[in-house]
Amino acid sequence: MGSHKQRQSWNAADYARNARFVSDLGAGVFDLLDIQAGERVLDLGCGDGALTEKLVEHGAVVVGVDASENQISAARARGLDARVMDGEGLDFDQEFDAVFSNAALHWMTDPNAVVQGVAAALKPNGRFVGEFGGHTNVAACLVALVAALVRRGYNGLDAIPWYFPTPDEYGQVLESNGFSVEEIALIPRPTPLPTGIEGWLMTFGESFFSVLPESGRDDMKREVIDLLRPSLCDSEGRWTADYVRLRFHATLD
Ligand code: BEZ
Repeated sequence: MGSHKQRQSWNAADYARNARFVSDLGAGVFDLLDIQAGERVLDLGCGDGALTEKLVEHGAVVVGVDASENQISAARARGLDARVMDGEGLDFDQEFDAVFSNAALHWMTDPNAVVQGVAAALKPNGRFVGEFGGHTNVAACLVALVAALVRRGYNGLDAIPWYFPTPDEYGQVLESNGFSVEEIALIPRPTPLPTGIEGWLMTFGESFFSVLPESGRDDMKREVIDLLRPSLCDSEGRWTADYVRLRFHATLD
């Protein structure tokens, strides 16, 4: 999950409350992995291990890695083999049949470093299957957050912690690191937010708010929520985020 260590921190309890939908919505990419019993799988950006646990239930032998110590503690509490490791500095050598990643790669802003480490971690002909935020993901949220910082005299673009590539762009990263792309596509997926936009902003927007002194953050939060309401909130007060996923399946040549 969090590879963006300086600006984004993860509290496992807050994450479970505001973002459990992230692992709940991981079924599509889970099916694409088509796990076989006994396979060795690396779960890259495993977070609190909700999906890692499902891989184990399907008979895989799984190692989960995440840059967040807090999330790894939560994953270990489930009895998982989970290790603190930065996705941009993976340290495995031809150990896995598959590398799996859900909702994590957009936090890793050096995709070549990530994919190079994934290639090294896989056995020959191993597969890399994942889903993360793609081009135009959370566009409304991103514009509102950047604009609110610009209005306060900050460079809002510098605060963006995410990498949301097009299929072409990410396909090239995969191919230049020795993969053949079997499948890659953007999937628009409007996503209801169970704890509203405020919970989402607090859990995922930290890098924008941390630019400001504490005293200015509530005001910016109110402004961002007001900006987003017309496009993301319905007449019943229910919030839906404008998620667009990039889902892919690639095989090491
Ligand atoms: C996502 O899962 O697409 C996402 C998560 C946090 C911030 C932005 C996007």
